[in-house]
Amino acid sequence: NCDCADKSHHLEEVAAGEVMGSLPMDQAFVQAPEHRAKPSVAEADGIPVIDLSPLFAADGVDVDVLAAEVGRASRDWGFFVVVRHGVPEEVVARAAEAQRAFFALPPARRAAVARSEAVQMGYYASDHTQNVRDWKEAFDLVPTRHSPLPLPSAMVLDNKWPDDLPGFREAMEEYGEAVEELAFKLLELIARSLGLRPDRLHGFFEDHQTTFIRLNHYPPCPSPDHALGLGHHKDAGALTVLYQDDVGGLDVRRRCDGEWVRVRPIPQSFIINIGDIIQVWSNDRYESVEHRVVVNVEKERFSIPFFFYPASYTMVEPLEEVVSEESPARYNPYSWGEFFSARKNGNFKKLDVDYVQI
Ligand code: SIN
Ligand code: FE2
Repeated sequence: NCDCADKSHHLEEVAAGEVMGSLPMDQAFVQAPEHRAKPSVAEADGIPVIDLSPLFAADGVDVDVLAAEVGRASRDWGFFVVVRHGVPEEVVARAAEAQRAFFALPPARRAAVARSEAVQMGYYASDHTQNVRDWKEAFDLVPTRHSPLPLPSAMVLDNKWPDDLPGFREAMEEYGEAVEELAFKLLELIARSLGLRPDRLHGFFEDHQTTFIRLNHYPPCPSPDHALGLGHHKDAGALTVLYQDDVGGLDVRRRCDGEWVRVRPIPQSFIINIGDIIQVWSNDRYESVEHRVVVNVEKERFSIPFFFYPASYTMVEPLEEVVSEESPARYNPYSWGEFFSARKNGNFKKLDVDYVQI
């Protein structure tokens, strides 16, 4: 299930040291030559598309088959697409519509809900990945049913809701609830695929999860060959459940050959991304994979990642069931809350090195 052989439409890498003078763009957005997107990235036909309808069948007989499929996708790609996933189409449509309405607000009204140092949720127009500015603006919010405990740095995750945007809050709360239900089902499939009790991982998320939702807006970009909507990175949480619109631009680094491949938008699907926490829990049986977002000249793009994060007091370490004499723990335990705060405070690099491999 890997289309490695088909490299015919990969074009030449952008030449290093190219002159940037004519670009109507701030240098802060310019990626180092080795990180820029090639003019054309192959669409990844091989990314597994998994039909989750067996989860909703009365007899439930196919759930183990489904779990095995999820396990293979998590191992070989770290990414997969789910369809017939149980999240109602109109719930997604309402959230996507509310997202567009928010980013259509005049700048002053978006700025009125700007996130602050103390309260990490809200709007921001400037963010950086690996020290290069991303070509996007975003709004973060916590699905309000859970009340995350303050993070170790006394940082709180609290919502800022825009005034006079009818239905926005309701649409986001409804979306958060429906996607959380899906996230728990995926967690169960992942647990089963590792030979664990279906609810083995639930406890990490039952109280005070630090999950949040991000509304991304990638405006059209004058220089998509030099900037990225989102620089290359791996997701630090357990799972990401991602909605993307029909524009496309998410690239995943294919494990088998390290090539960047584009995830084709499929209507009414979600993209599932295995994060660092599942990599650690599974002791490297599953892998958190690099990805990035490429922007384009004509079209704006919208996406909504749901970052499924455990409680801040969770100690993340390989699960005892997957560790053995033949397969000793490959990671030291680390505190999710401390890691998350440090990452938010921009110290990610330091901890990133510290927590990995013993
Ligand atoms: C992300 O990686 O957090 C967002 C990806 C996307 O916008 O498709
Ligand atoms: Fe990501």
